[in-house]
Amino acid sequence: MNAAAVVPAAGRGERLGPGAPKALRELGGVPLLVHAVRALARSRAVTLVVVVAPSDGVAQVRALLDGARPEGADGPDIKVVAGGATRQESVRLGLAALPPQVDVVLVHDAARPLVPVDVVDAVARAVAEGAGAVVPGVPLADTVKLVGPASGPGRPEPVLGTPDRSTLRAVQTPQGFRRELLQQVHDRALADALDATDDAGLVEHYGGEVVVVPGHEEAFKVTRPLDLVLAEAVLARRRAQDDF
Ligand code: CTP
Ligand code: MG
Repeated sequence: MNAAAVVPAAGRGERLGPGAPKALRELGGVPLLVHAVRALARSRAVTLVVVVAPSDGVAQVRALLDGARPEGADGPDIKVVAGGATRQESVRLGLAALPPQVDVVLVHDAARPLVPVDVVDAVARAVAEGAGAVVPGVPLADTVKLVGPASGPGRPEPVLGTPDRSTLRAVQTPQGFRRELLQQVHDRALADALDATDDAGLVEHYGGEVVVVPGHEEAFKVTRPLDLVLAEAVLARRRAQDDF
């Protein structure tokens, strides 16, 4: 197995509020993107990380990652390429930068800075053991309702049903794929103008099998301001534990 990670980091982070692009916002004084790349680099399975940066921020991101690399440390190679207008386009541009020998791809959001290495390893292992597409997932805490359109502005939404929560998983990244499969579904989605919120969704759309391995609560995505507060707390706890 020769696994590379593709890290989409080209989003603006609109839901996080005004400020730098989300991947460059800091957590414990270090950009989210640097945390995410380090988390992937901790996995022995990952030989290359392709970071997909905002198209006007490629040089800045390259400098940032060069500066974050410990002197003389071995670890995966790091490449930086320019992203696109949607997450899917950014992933496609990242895939295009992979060298031929890569046969397994892990797609990991820069916005998930605290993913434990065990999750990265579990996803890579499941692909190595034969799965074409693997996602880490966690059980839901909340009950989920299926709703219909409100009858008018400001009116409540009617509930259409309650899926059995025990059959639902919130999915995270890294999502792992046989490279050939991921490339195929991205090519088809481009031709069909299909947009999905995650890469596994493309595989499902075209009839491929996707399996779930256990994710981790600390692999949550930093999306809204409150997520940044939680991430700071998790990081502070980790740093305190490392000191003891
Ligand atoms: N992403 C990307 N290219 C885009 C849009 C998103 O590479 N055109 C990346 C983000 O940088 C992030 C990941 O995809 O690491 C998940 O997306 P999301 O959490 O939605 O991040 P943003 O799009 O930046 O946030 P928002 O939707 O709030 O603007
Ligand atoms: Mg987004």
